[in-house]
Amino acid sequence: MCGIVGCVNGSSVLPVLVDGLKRMEYRGYDSAGVALLRADRSTVIKRAGKLVELAAALDESKPTGAAGIGHSRWATHGPPTEVNAHPHVASWAGGSIALVHNGIIENYAELKAGLLTQGRTFLSETDTEVLAHLIAVARSEGKDLLEAVRTVLTQVRGTFALAILDSTEPGRMIGARRGSPLIVGVANDAIYLASDQTAILGHTDQLVFLDDDEIVDCRSGTYTVIDFEASVQRHEVHRSELQLEEIQKSGFPHFLLKEIHAQPEAVRDILRGRLILEDGISHLGGLDTIMPFLPWLDGIDTVACGTSYYAGLVGSYLLERMTELPVHVAFASEFRYRSPVVAKGTLGMVISQSGETADTLAALRELKRRGNHPQEQRRRGGGNPVIGLVNVVGSSIAREVDGGVYLHAGPEISVASTKAFTAQVIAQLLVGLQIGRNRRLPITEGQHIVRALHALPDQIQRILDRSADIEAIADRVAGYDHVMFLGRDALYPVALEGALKLKEVSYIQAEAHAAGEMKHGPIALTGPDLLTIYLCPKNDLYEKARSNLQEVKARGGTLVIVGTEGDTSLREFSDDVVGIPAEAPIWTQPILVNVWLQLLAYYAAVKRGTDVDQPRNLAKSVTVE
Ligand code: G6P
Repeated sequence: MCGIVGCVNGSSVLPVLVDGLKRMEYRGYDSAGVALLRADRSTVIKRAGKLVELAAALDESKPTGAAGIGHSRWATHGPPTEVNAHPHVASWAGGSIALVHNGIIENYAELKAGLLTQGRTFLSETDTEVLAHLIAVARSEGKDLLEAVRTVLTQVRGTFALAILDSTEPGRMIGARRGSPLIVGVANDAIYLASDQTAILGHTDQLVFLDDDEIVDCRSGTYTVIDFEASVQRHEVHRSELQLEEIQKSGFPHFLLKEIHAQPEAVRDILRGRLILEDGISHLGGLDTIMPFLPWLDGIDTVACGTSYYAGLVGSYLLERMTELPVHVAFASEFRYRSPVVAKGTLGMVISQSGETADTLAALRELKRRGNHPQEQRRRGGGNPVIGLVNVVGSSIAREVDGGVYLHAGPEISVASTKAFTAQVIAQLLVGLQIGRNRRLPITEGQHIVRALHALPDQIQRILDRSADIEAIADRVAGYDHVMFLGRDALYPVALEGALKLKEVSYIQAEAHAAGEMKHGPIALTGPDLLTIYLCPKNDLYEKARSNLQEVKARGGTLVIVGTEGDTSLREFSDDVVGIPAEAPIWTQPILVNVWLQLLAYYAAVKRGTDVDQPRNLAKSVTVE
């Protein structure tokens, strides 16, 4: 999704902007541009399409300037053309304003109508251009740049992260945010703005996370943050832990493959220091604030989008077993508008890799609003608690929840999410251990789960070491245009995630069903054109699963099966069988089966020649509705 990078360093900012835009390519975009404003010569260069186009144009004109802003756009209002690309520019008597924007201005139509009556002309179809004009108008009324931005933003409805330049103040850059991330990078002689810290990595590791409704006034090496009432705000400077190595491919042909292979290490990282075998329990510092509430819990409400939603669904099966509490999982985009009933005494659980997904953030706020029961207020001095299972430290969701578990999966660059899913399922097992052991989960079962988690990194590695098996199968899968995934119990959401991964990266039409539902409709699709991928490791439902396999086979269906290592009986149904380690219990089976499906999707995509890391039309972090 859209990316912002800005820099004021008193000398030449162009390399910083180009580098930053390149680093944010993974987020998904369809046009890009930069602006460098100087009193004598302002340059704004934009191009539709990939960054190479913009880089070539910049190479030719080599603009210089002490401050500059850059943007990669994922089209919302208006198609991905050069004119709709950011920065947008508006002039006033003394000079011109250039501005880049992430988010959506909801009242742009009425603001635009007002500007048109003042004789302002618009070039683009974007909502963003109104902001440039409004600031230009405020400047022509004599307002200082910071004051102009502040007064304009108080009229705006919607979400924004902004970086703004004024040609009359070439050494100054203004940033602002509401509902869309914006980070200030601080160095001795430069200040940076970025919507994603990867954009400025290597220039500084000193970061300030702006809050909503804040504006930052940046000059070389100094900055001031104010709120929309113009009061100065103080912020802690955080040291970024992100290493350059983590956002490079490190010898892998794609980030997707690198991230699939990073999972053993990611699992060790999320578990580190968090398991106590002796008590069969987890220790989660991020849940300390809500510990008093846990004995009173009556249920769990999970909200998330995309892959995180499927991780939540897997977790619901596991958590219900561990805690004996009802667990409801909702798409955040549905939850926020459907007038959800949030019963008193439920724990809200928000799952997000980025911590910035607009729908998930809105659902979190809805969970809080609707969980604000007077009884809970009296009992604990607050409403239902809401926790976050989030990967990106300091992200909006991480900062708005009452507590939570960081995933420690490291940066996920590939648009299709893999290691975050694994970490999200594990985080739910950790939460389940904490809640379950404070309820009726026996210590022996708790210890069993702790052991299963400790064994997981090596078991994942065993699967990765056999990638060639699935690569050969993926070659055949890539020849199909229709694939159906089937699974039961916690493997049903794994089937859903497997189908999502395959369609995301290979563009093969894929759907998934609970295997027991097959005979109620999906089986009608079975035939030579459809490949069925069946998830069938040994567990309590194994015999039932085998009956489903018979049903597909009897109707001439072709099968790929993910079973258990050593289960040769599955060869009766297909030659294309892979297996997860036999010692893995139900608690970790979904994760292991999913690793096979991640590899399958990856190799099928490579075979089909798609843009594996940046599939068409998709964005990594969907910060608009
Ligand atoms: C986008 C990404 C998905 C991701 C979903 C939710 O659609 O392409 O990979 O699962 O957003 O993102 P989140 O950051 O909230 O987990």
